Amino acid sequence: VIKMTDLALAGQRVLIREDLNVPVKDGKISSDARLKAALPTIKLALEAGAKVMVMSHLGRPTEGEFNSEFSLQPVVDYLAAALNYPVRLVTDYLDGVEIGAGELVIFENIRFNKGEKSNDDALAKKLAALCDVFVMDAFGTAHRAQASTHGVAKYAPTACAGPLLAGELDALAKALDNPARPLVAIVGGSKVSTKLTVLESLAGVVDQLVVGGGIANTFIAAQGHGIGKSLYEADLVAEAQRLTKQAQDNNGDIPVPSDVVVGQEFSESAVATLKKVSDVSGDDMIFDIGPDSAQALADIIAKAGTIVWNGPVGVFEFDQFGKGTEIIARAIADSSAFSIAGGGDTLAAVDKYDIADKVSYISTGGGAFLEFLEGKKLPAVEILEQRAKQ
Ligand code: 3PG
Repeated sequence: VIKMTDLALAGQRVLIREDLNVPVKDGKISSDARLKAALPTIKLALEAGAKVMVMSHLGRPTEGEFNSEFSLQPVVDYLAAALNYPVRLVTDYLDGVEIGAGELVIFENIRFNKGEKSNDDALAKKLAALCDVFVMDAFGTAHRAQASTHGVAKYAPTACAGPLLAGELDALAKALDNPARPLVAIVGGSKVSTKLTVLESLAGVVDQLVVGGGIANTFIAAQGHGIGKSLYEADLVAEAQRLTKQAQDNNGDIPVPSDVVVGQEFSESAVATLKKVSDVSGDDMIFDIGPDSAQALADIIAKAGTIVWNGPVGVFEFDQFGKGTEIIARAIADSSAFSIAGGGDTLAAVDKYDIADKVSYISTGGGAFLEFLEGKKLPAVEILEQRAKQ
């Protein structure tokens, strides 16, 4: 793909698609990770003397209407403060924007437009007509083929990848295409069903697959253990057995915990009890891995050459069920392997255990990160590749 950093931007109308989709409650931003990640690209374009326009979606508003709940105003205020620079929010932009060199405007939530999500051609052409250079920098939305991520790239005079998108793709390629071995993937989270294709795809490329959280419960059940009232998916037990067998046929394994921490209710005040996995009783719910299992995983992590982490191994939002995830987070932080972490819950764990600057790369992608791990082509990247060949 063409890179923004290879282009001369002075005086050009540069339209940047960022993923500024951050959690906002009552006008307050609760996680600014995506905004921090987008800042260098915006700064670079401003310093190059471009006329800088930035667009993004926020949340999932009803298409075709303004809704203040989904306004980008809090994001604009954040960026103005972070850049210490005037930032203008514009709501009417589709028919042209007044803008000078070195100026920065942000378009109001791109999903207020009809046709954004359906990747409408007419909308894409209007966006493309606003710029000389379209910069796709929204890795977190690169799995969506929408007018502001895909359509606009088709019609813009020049379409290129911004530094954030390029950096994400480089980091993921480093982890998966030609990794330092052993390559260890840790996939946690609540359900096998939402990550089945990720597990299948990773099982074929990693040296060691580690499952955790609710996902591990299905694997524990697949080994014939009782799991009490734990969250699991009965219809995927056979699939878990198949994946385990596949790993064993390749001289590997998908380890399940030997000890677990159980509770009787899903609550902040639930009492945590440590048990051997074979002793889980009918009314127990598994909420974390035990210290022996966590140490075994920490040992695997310590020997890794590359680590991919998506998903916690326990209900870490409740401290009494957070030890397993904490031990894994610390093992990743202590490792000299190339490590990459992504996904909303994973980043919350990275924050909670304060290891952000000890992970080699933190992805801004949730769904996009997973789709990349599934081996899928990201449509917003594919179109840039096509444009580069023209
Ligand atoms: C995300 O948060 O995963 C991206 O911003 C995409 O948002 P979406 O799932 O609403 O398309």
